[in-house]
Amino acid sequence: DTLSLVLLAAAYLLGSICSAIIVCRVLGLADPRTEGSQNPGATNVMRIGGKKAALLTLAGDMLKGVPLVLLAQSWQLRPDLISAIGLAAFLGHLYPVFFKFEGGKGVATALGVLLALHWPLGLAVIAIWLLVFALSRISSLGSILSFSAAPFLAWYLCPSYMLGIVGMSILLIARHKANIQALINGEERKFTKKSADD
Ligand code: G3P
Repeated sequence: DTLSLVLLAAAYLLGSICSAIIVCRVLGLADPRTEGSQNPGATNVMRIGGKKAALLTLAGDMLKGVPLVLLAQSWQLRPDLISAIGLAAFLGHLYPVFFKFEGGKGVATALGVLLALHWPLGLAVIAIWLLVFALSRISSLGSILSFSAAPFLAWYLCPSYMLGIVGMSILLIARHKANIQALINGEERKFTKKSADD
């Protein structure tokens, strides 16, 4: 119906706002699409501009997954529609209408969506990410492993949202194809204690 389409479109448009590109432009940093991993996301902004810029990017990209999911929940719409609205925000980040449909890998946005859908699930996935990153110092490994676990956790915690969560997790991992190749080759970028990259 019309209401569903409006909510899906609004979530997609909000998801299309790419925090990394905006933060780097505002702070006078290099374009994240041409530096480092060339990915417009918090991880690459960390390499280019450090912690403050990365936190702003992370917060912006997480937040955009939240409002339309919460609105749909407050209106008690169907769970599969609610999770599809989260998926729409995530798709906006991957294929942003404002940036030639060339977006990021969706980790921060997906975390925001998970927190909004079911906050204990969101916290569990964040905890896995943090644990893997603490042990490996590799951001992409944290993302791949935590979102490999997300559908299984969702199965127990909030099965009615499976549709959107499985969709996000599959696309998110598929977006990490180059990272997976680099991990296999032992060439993936690491954050060492001293410098921000390699
Ligand atoms: O969260 C994005 C991260 O998983 C990978 O980013 O820049 O290392 O490809 P990057």
